[in-house]
Amino acid sequence: ASVGVRYSPWPVQVDSPEVHYSDEYIFAKFHYEQVSTCEDRQNGRTLVRPERQQLEFRTDRCVPRLGLLQVGWGGNNGSTLTAAVVANRENICWESREGLCSPNYYGSVTQTASVHLGCDEQGADVFVPLHAIVPLVHPNDIILGGWDISSSNLADALDRAKVLDVDLRRQLRPFLERIKPWRAAFDKSFIAQNQQSRADNILSGSKQEQLDSLRDDIRRFKAEHKVEKVVVVWSANSERYAELTTEAACLPEKLLQAIRNNEAEISPSILYAVAAILEHCPYVNGSPQNTLLPSVVELARQQAVPVSGNDFKSGQTRLKSVFTDFLVGCGLKPRAIVTYNHLGNNDMYQLTDGTMWKPKSVSKSGVLEDIVSSNRALFAEGEEPDHVVVVKYVPFLGDSKRDISEYTSEAFMGGRYTNIIHNEALDSILCAPLILDTAILCELLTRVTFRRPGDETYRPLESVAVALSFFMKNPMTPYGLPPVNALWRQRLCLENMLRALVGLGPSHELWFLGASD
Ligand code: NAI
Repeated sequence: ASVGVRYSPWPVQVDSPEVHYSDEYIFAKFHYEQVSTCEDRQNGRTLVRPERQQLEFRTDRCVPRLGLLQVGWGGNNGSTLTAAVVANRENICWESREGLCSPNYYGSVTQTASVHLGCDEQGADVFVPLHAIVPLVHPNDIILGGWDISSSNLADALDRAKVLDVDLRRQLRPFLERIKPWRAAFDKSFIAQNQQSRADNILSGSKQEQLDSLRDDIRRFKAEHKVEKVVVVWSANSERYAELTTEAACLPEKLLQAIRNNEAEISPSILYAVAAILEHCPYVNGSPQNTLLPSVVELARQQAVPVSGNDFKSGQTRLKSVFTDFLVGCGLKPRAIVTYNHLGNNDMYQLTDGTMWKPKSVSKSGVLEDIVSSNRALFAEGEEPDHVVVVKYVPFLGDSKRDISEYTSEAFMGGRYTNIIHNEALDSILCAPLILDTAILCELLTRVTFRRPGDETYRPLESVAVALSFFMKNPMTPYGLPPVNALWRQRLCLENMLRALVGLGPSHELWFLGASD
């Protein structure tokens, strides 16, 4: 008889001589096994050399009181996320057409996804929630704040978004109507003309004065709410690209000088990122614009602060990065990938402006590259499927995004395999949990340090948070490393990072060998 599958909800404690739990830290020795390869063209073979590196991770076990500051707090994502946290914290249930609903964190990988750990004594597969591996902040304990160019209070913003059910909105009103976003850094040349009428809550003054004001907001928030750590997440509208001089784009001191000089190409998002970093707060770029320039990343390295970007991968692109991987992984050759999206929310309205659409279109298009170039048996060098993305603004649909994706692949012996997928979801319902996850995981990264044999001290992880690629359409990588878009490779990277922090090897899926005796 099958011994089945077991789900274990409790925190993980690893029992191994390589792992030590003190009151303050988890110390974990980890053997990083890599494979380096080179091509032996003369003899027509690939030479492979397994390599082993010894690392030791140290994770602070103390979960801080965390603040999450959203830029664009009064938007659909910002208001939906805030409402969800309050509803979960206060356990507010509501009536919908379907009956009584209760709050949850579905769609948040840290809260509601599970990881395969191993087998129990009976040989059953054991799964644990992702948040059980190392201590993570719980979303209900996060203190929320943020900025918006619109002065609407959060209850009005939630009504304007029309994402959550009316009965829930009504019950949340007393909690949300007294919350108003702080005045925002704003520059009308960076967002579409059609957003200007919203901008009634903005900072005045030079770029330097706006930066100082954002830093003051972060400090005041920390003091008022007794918050120990803060993560700043950009969830405001996509901006156009900033076109800074090469010097300001590459060197932190030149970037800071450009801000002092009130340089016109310093975008609001750059001011938020710099403010966050100078206040030692991780920064997440949830939109496609080029905020996280090399100079900003270097500034983050100097302050040992994680940064993550770009553009949340929540809907059609996420499915594409798993569906294309599925096709290519099965040895099928996708030749045409065509997706039509239509929705009618404010962000889509702003994307009807061609300049604002450009960064989004680049971000949506890059998602196939690593998947296609991983398989030369199907695709010759430089060959790609025809990839078309159409996006239309349909006001009546509001946040309810529909997308129709068609994949046409070449199959065995001249056959064709065509898949048509129709998705419908409220955009913010998919995206808000990602904001939570990136904030929670960025906070974790600030508690992790590591060292190699011979190192006396532990050092912080690289500032570019590659392990968060899973959440991004256009994942950033440090030092020109190739990005990974394939969703399950990204998911494994995240999972394996958490496992490494408690000294467990990567999830190897060697179950063909059976359970050990
Ligand atoms: P939204 O338009 O409802 O909200 C954006 C908010 O940002 C608005 O309230 C606006 O007033 C505010 N804002 C604009 N410029 C600002 C500034 N300089 N400072 C402070 N606030 C500012 O948009 P939504 O739907 O909440 O999306 C937010 C962002 O997330 C967009 O950039 C979108 O591209 C990105 N995103 C959303 C996804 C999704 O909803 N599924 C997926 C991937 C990315």
